[in-house]
Amino acid sequence: MSRPYRVLSIVGARPNFMKVAPIVAELGRHPDTFTSRIVHTGQHYDEKLSKVFFEDLGIPRPDVNLNVGSGSHAQQTAAVMAAFEPVLLEHAPDVVLVVGDVNSTIACALVATKLGVTVAHVEAGLRSRDRSMPEEVNRVLTDQISDLLFTTEESAADNLVREGIARESVHFVGNVMIDTLLQHRDKARALDTPRRNGLSAKAYGLLTLHRPSNVDDPAAFEQLLSALSEIARDVPIVFPVHPRTRPRVASSPLATAMVADGRLRLLEPLPYLEFVGLMESSAVVLTDSGGIQEETTILGVPCLTLRENTERPVTITHGTNHLVGTSPERILASWRGLDRTAAAPPPPPLWDGRAAVRIVEVLRQQSS
Ligand code: UD1
Repeated sequence: MSRPYRVLSIVGARPNFMKVAPIVAELGRHPDTFTSRIVHTGQHYDEKLSKVFFEDLGIPRPDVNLNVGSGSHAQQTAAVMAAFEPVLLEHAPDVVLVVGDVNSTIACALVATKLGVTVAHVEAGLRSRDRSMPEEVNRVLTDQISDLLFTTEESAADNLVREGIARESVHFVGNVMIDTLLQHRDKARALDTPRRNGLSAKAYGLLTLHRPSNVDDPAAFEQLLSALSEIARDVPIVFPVHPRTRPRVASSPLATAMVADGRLRLLEPLPYLEFVGLMESSAVVLTDSGGIQEETTILGVPCLTLRENTERPVTITHGTNHLVGTSPERILASWRGLDRTAAAPPPPPLWDGRAAVRIVEVLRQQSS
């Protein structure tokens, strides 16, 4: 019998955990075919951004933690590369599996390809066409050096082929983040998070903001809040605050006023199950996240995306997402025009909870 195929999966930042969880679980169901190891780069290190997700999602403890922490893009990316290279040499995997578009994704993909190791990229081919977004640079470069490209939506294959990638390398498998959502939805409901926070179903908005373009510049942040403060007159807004956004909130006059009169409720970053529970019962989600556009699509909750572009167009054509930009007039007009009683559309193709099974089947074919 041939030896098991060695898969080394990389996680670094919060959105990576829910993507890797179902893949690692599926690999674990085939112990004769695969060995599975996890490397955590330590890009996110706060307990609330990292450890609680391993617990909520039942991810095995990482085999290696590189502990790189925060830094400039160059420092962080370089630190991951330097720390990952000896780990890769020691573990000698057959494939390095990277997910999403964070700095840890490109850093580990680059180390692996230079050492001649097969790179599999999960969530390949998404494009915002906005190179000022650090994630867009990470996506384009990771895809260029990946051997296996696993896509979540049909637009992604066209993006990749346009960039010179062979169509045979692209595998349309569906969305692993939705595998995780479908698997944990009942558990999230059972926690009754809205009621435990004194919130009535469909009577509050849920806000997340962490994109540099929205939260690094105080003026841009205040402009967004001016629209949100009007929406918050109709429904109070609950806001779990990302560490990157915390200083901006603390120094914002409008945020302070909204908190004082009860229109805005600030929370710490939430564990996965609690956040899903809050999302599902909300009247509207307001966000600049990528993954939340996908999750609201499946939960059937209206999502106003506070960005000028999205790399996930299927959430608009097949989902509940509305790209509303960052101008206060447009955000408010979109809120006022929203049909909150509209029936949720059917899910996008292959967002059926079986993406990880499809990925592992492609890996099995590689191993034989
Ligand atoms: C990163 C990803 C982004 C992803 C987001 C999800 C990149 C380029 N960006 O952005 O794509 O959507 O994660 O959260 O990879 N910090 C803490 N504790 C932590 C981690 C960070 O306090 O555990 C603070 C630090 O001040 C740090 C800042 O947050 O400097 C930003 O962290 P970083 O990992 O650089 O980027 P994110 O904004 O979290």
